[in-house]
Amino acid sequence: MIKHEKLKKWVEEVALLTTPDSIYWCDGSQEEYDRMIKLMEKEGLATPLNPEKLPGCYLFRSDPSDVARVENRTYIASKTQDDAGPTNNWIEPNELKQIMKNLYKGCMKGRTMYVIPFSMGPVGSPISKIGVEISDSPYVVVNMHIMTRVGKDVLEVLGEHGEFIPCLHSVGKPLNEGESDNGKWPCAPLEHKYISHFPEERTIWSYGSGYGGNALLGKKCLALRIASVMARDEGWLAEHMLILGITNPEGKKKYIAGAFPSACGKTNLAMLIPTIPGWKVECVGDDIAWMKFGKDGRLYAINPEAGFFGVAPGTSMESNPSAMKTINRNTIYTNVALTEDGDVWWEGIGYEPPGKLIDWNGKEWIPGKSTTPAAHPNARFTTPARQCPVIDPEWENPAGVPISAFIFGGRRPTTIPLVYEAFSWNHGVFIASTIGSEVTAAALDLKAGTIRRDPMAMLPFCGYNMGDYFAHWINIQHKTTPDKLPKIFCVNWFRKSPDGKWLWPGYGENSRVLKWIFERCDGTGEALETEIGYLPPVHAIDVRGLAISNETMKELLTVDREGWLQEVELVREHYRSFGNRLPKELLIELENLEKRLKK
Ligand code: GTP
Ligand code: SPV
Ligand code: MN
Repeated sequence: MIKHEKLKKWVEEVALLTTPDSIYWCDGSQEEYDRMIKLMEKEGLATPLNPEKLPGCYLFRSDPSDVARVENRTYIASKTQDDAGPTNNWIEPNELKQIMKNLYKGCMKGRTMYVIPFSMGPVGSPISKIGVEISDSPYVVVNMHIMTRVGKDVLEVLGEHGEFIPCLHSVGKPLNEGESDNGKWPCAPLEHKYISHFPEERTIWSYGSGYGGNALLGKKCLALRIASVMARDEGWLAEHMLILGITNPEGKKKYIAGAFPSACGKTNLAMLIPTIPGWKVECVGDDIAWMKFGKDGRLYAINPEAGFFGVAPGTSMESNPSAMKTINRNTIYTNVALTEDGDVWWEGIGYEPPGKLIDWNGKEWIPGKSTTPAAHPNARFTTPARQCPVIDPEWENPAGVPISAFIFGGRRPTTIPLVYEAFSWNHGVFIASTIGSEVTAAALDLKAGTIRRDPMAMLPFCGYNMGDYFAHWINIQHKTTPDKLPKIFCVNWFRKSPDGKWLWPGYGENSRVLKWIFERCDGTGEALETEIGYLPPVHAIDVRGLAISNETMKELLTVDREGWLQEVELVREHYRSFGNRLPKELLIELENLEKRLKK
């Protein structure tokens, strides 16, 4: 029996509008998960993988038009366009609701409507938020089982009057009498897709896509877009950040949170195996951090998720062994390639395809002959975080972990050094607000390869005016004293040589940079004061055992004055779009940087 009248009423209303064949309340049990998988197996949507190699693993292939987030169909429908700001798509909320109601009308015909109560963060923790997703996709149900905490105990915490964020989702493909999906991934054409957020009402409406962040509404929609608005109002931070714990050989541990744009290395950094002896890195989260100041004045972070929805291509025993050991059981694979013996394969898995494959489109793929990628570049795995061999013992601590440093970065082939440290909090917020990156395959409608500004890696995820978001970052420092604030660093693993090769080996070798960051937070790391911030002298980065020339290290760690003067102009242009919502503190930082460079 559902005790929550408001929830019951909302479910009834949605059912009246969408006219599903039946309504099913999810209990989050293993039995339920298995039943959904069986159902999709029968319908030809789920392919069981080889149980000897990949027990409990299944493969799904999405529609070729539905393979990533759709940023140009994602809306922040606040009351005024100004509140959504220059970086978000906006439609007047009532108008958008009318458009979407017309789409939702009868859209669940022939399907079951699943009601998924879920908690972002440990169930019952004071920092956690409860959402209820209504979806007509059993694929969403099983993914939500892994990515969030789903079930009866969530309803119990909700009680009769508890607060929840309503998240409405439909794949937008009603079925006629006797029709079935016939093994085809259901979704709506692009022009009918809407990923909509109503920040004042704290409500999410998503229509037409079944993939990732478009459909698993606890993730980007709730835990970032809606949560960022709550965080602004309540004085905390909801960020697109990994959280890791790093322990030095003496056993001293610090926690670091890091923001990189989509497909720029958060999952890899979060669970890296250090190549420097005696150091250990453990993973708290790989994508989202919610952070509040504790009574002691330090900033504490929790990972609101329960699983990883990670990029498959490029993941190998070489690049990310911890991820490989996490995803060898109980994992959902989407849009990877299938081998003849029921194993998975993707570009960058670390070995040649063992023979003929079935590619992500379901077509035969022959090594040496086929010219298209076998796995989609945004193919992903959904896997339980608790299976990660380097999961941090504190990862579910409802009080969170204390953050010593923030790191920001993106894919920058030139100019930005391997690592540098901000002079101050304001300078750090300035750096974070100017992060740029070469575009990746994580969003459908962008041209991969061009550089776009992605402040705090939040460009597609900030639920309000980004100028106000910058101001929130500036203001939050006053919640504590400067000595207790995390130090802010910028990193760049993606510098390239003129012939297009990576200058820095990356992955596990990034531990060498983390070590310097650790030492800076500990008050021991050496640094040079430069025009752009504190830079490590070459000898301060521990490269013992690494085949890298002194020349390359110098190139990675010097200030390219010309490049930086160009950067200043680009940042000025980037800032212009925020008009008078841009905090003056950031303009001052930009002017100071220019002055230092021109001295
Ligand atoms: P989202 O889940 O989209 O938010 O992505 P993410 O930030 O977690 O990125 P992820 O760790 O999945 O990495 C994405 C891609 O970047 C993969 O293809 C990796 O192989 C590559 N990558 C990650 N770290 C490094 C690195 O240090 N150097 C280089 N060259 N590539 C890296
Ligand atoms: C991202 O694009 O940053 C992701 C994948 O983490 S999705 O959940 O689809 O947003
Ligand atoms: Mn992400």
